[in-house]
Amino acid sequence: MSEKLDGTVALVTGASSGIGQATALRLAGHGAAVAIVARRRDRLDELAVRIKEDGGRALVIEADITDRDQVTGAVETMIQELGRLDTLVNNAGVMLLGPIVGAPLEEWQRMVNLNVLGLLYCTHAALPHLLAAAEGDPRSVADVVNVSSTAGRVARLNSGVYNATKFGVVAFSESLRQEVTARHVRVSIIEPGATATELASHNRLVVLEEMAKNFGGIELMASEDIADAIVYVVTRPRHVAVNEMLIRPTEQER
Ligand SMILES: NC(=O)c1ccc[n+]([C@@H]2O[C@H](COP(=O)([O-])OP(=O)(O)OC[C@H]3O[C@@H](n4cnc5c(N)ncnc54)[C@H](OP(=O)(O)O)[C@@H]3O)[C@@H](O)[C@H]2O)c1
Repeated sequence: MSEKLDGTVALVTGASSGIGQATALRLAGHGAAVAIVARRRDRLDELAVRIKEDGGRALVIEADITDRDQVTGAVETMIQELGRLDTLVNNAGVMLLGPIVGAPLEEWQRMVNLNVLGLLYCTHAALPHLLAAAEGDPRSVADVVNVSSTAGRVARLNSGVYNATKFGVVAFSESLRQEVTARHVRVSIIEPGATATELASHNRLVVLEEMAKNFGGIELMASEDIADAIVYVVTRPRHVAVNEMLIRPTEQER
């Protein structure tokens, strides 16, 4: 086990499955105490058991991060229980694809509420604690890692509102980076390509069929591939900030 995150605390949103779950496991394996946040408590409880069995420390926080009061409460609980915050991984997200014409507006609301507003609420609540952590032991640096997507770099047909949310994450991240980097809060954007998780499963059947045509033939990445990238970012020395990582499956062309 690396010593690099010993004595630090991380908060991972969307830790009940996929990239968030893998990231929480990896961060705990590197010595961080991890607050794991999502709505499915049973999945978080199972993850906490795994982390503890591996010798790590986990705090389960059941919260819907589209509700700003629940976000405030989650961060307060984390500070009460774990005492500090060094690493915020804004990972929770939803991807609902399809044409813009005639799209169910409820799908757009879900994406904007979670991918944009949820991420903003978490960042707002966490920043005072991250700035405080960056001022002292053990590392004198803190991290915000925002999980965007290749969809935050390249707009595609049938991905308009998901693109809008992830482009928004990229813009917000760069502005925040400029604001806090001199105070040693690093802001990083992770941009995964197609990764085998539950993400696509929330789409309508007609959209799932279209996605199968685009990505059906390629070897997808695993959540652990992205978790490795996140751990790389947050374990750099204090003077090194990895601002952006675009990671695609080798066979993904666009
Ligand atoms: N998989 C890919 O190909 C891919 C590619 C590029 C980017 N990404 C991004 O990676 C991130 C993680 O996605 P994933 O692929 O790991 O998908 P996933 O397995 O579906 O994970 C999404 C996570 O978000 C949580 N979540 C959803 N709504 C929430 C809410 N209102 N409050 C709190 N948590 C909520 C879910 O937990 P609960 O349902 O328990 O709340 C779940 O843990 C997303 O931001 C996604 O856009 C994924």
